[in-house]
Amino acid sequence: MRKQIAAANWKMNLTIQQGETLVNELMEATGELNETQATVFAVPFPYLVNVKNILAGKSHVFVAAQNCYNKVSGAFTGEVSVEILKSIGTDYVIVGHSERREYFNESNQVLAEKIDLCIEYGLKPIFCCGEALEVREAGTQNSFVESQIKESLFHLTAEQLTGFVIAYEPIWAIGTGKTATSAQAQEIHAYIRSVLAQGYGNEVAESISILYGGSVKAANAKEIFSQPDVDGGLVGGASLMATEFAAIIRSLK
Ligand code: PGA
Repeated sequence: MRKQIAAANWKMNLTIQQGETLVNELMEATGELNETQATVFAVPFPYLVNVKNILAGKSHVFVAAQNCYNKVSGAFTGEVSVEILKSIGTDYVIVGHSERREYFNESNQVLAEKIDLCIEYGLKPIFCCGEALEVREAGTQNSFVESQIKESLFHLTAEQLTGFVIAYEPIWAIGTGKTATSAQAQEIHAYIRSVLAQGYGNEVAESISILYGGSVKAANAKEIFSQPDVDGGLVGGASLMATEFAAIIRSLK
């Protein structure tokens, strides 16, 4: 069975003290995950080492960066490379979150470069895709998301895509309290998996975890995650509260 993942995206929130308290509370509140489940904490860069240390010795729990730069190293003041991330023990990197695409003009091409660097340096990308409200209202979300995936991922080999992680996050559902219905999520997740199957075959497509993101909370996680093509969630707001995120972790298949 492909991995079922509850990924917390703290974005630019919490102090280190608040973050450490939250992770400690969560580790106490959630029991052992099984082999096919994982929890990921995507925390601000300066907290990666601290959170990694708290999680030392725990199974199926990982740390993620929320971004990386698309160059190996050099004179890029203020940026963080995958080599730096790897050297401090980072496991995953969120690539192409809609806030990065929107506020920092990250294109599908730049994201393809980031994906390549992550793979080269042995970090696991969580590749985000998803449409804006206008696209959904025009009914063209499938082809929009298909282009995002093809332009950033379809140069990869089947081996590189096996076990990959994609997060589908409709922009109109992020931080708005408006969640896609479980049927809407299932429909587009199945479509994404069919695009992957056309490009790489069923076996590769079936190995890829497709997370849903956009106002996931304790009250809706179980219903959304129960859909056959939804393999967990990427969670912003509700991941900042221990009781909420603990319930979301417990909702994994
Ligand atoms: P949200 O954010 O859960 O607060 O909607 C999700 C995300 O942006 O990853």
